Amino acid sequence: MSWTKVLAQNELPNDARKVVKVEKRAILLLNHNNEIYALENSCPHLGLPLKKGKVTDGAIVCPFHRSAFDLKTGNPTLWTPFPPGIGKLMGMMSTQKGVAVFPTRIEEGSIWVEI
Ligand code: FES
Repeated sequence: MSWTKVLAQNELPNDARKVVKVEKRAILLLNHNNEIYALENSCPHLGLPLKKGKVTDGAIVCPFHRSAFDLKTGNPTLWTPFPPGIGKLMGMMSTQKGVAVFPTRIEEGSIWVEI
């Protein structure tokens, strides 16, 4: 694990999001309520990008089958509820998993992520 400087703080204002590459991983940076979160930009269900997911109740909702993952822990709070009926079946065929989340910090006007 090591800290990497990824972005200037002013490039990620409140409600902004950006994907950066760190050690060959696509990391989604989110500024939600002036807290910076870093998570793998890959839904653990089918590996599709989470970047366009809405944030609801402290969780990011995958835009594809609407699994939701807690921004702080990465734990799933909902697993493949969409589309109705089919989503539930898909969910039974795949193991429920969380998304990787990474510590962040602000130092001298930059955002750092520990990968
Ligand atoms: S790809 Fe995210 S829930 Fe299916």
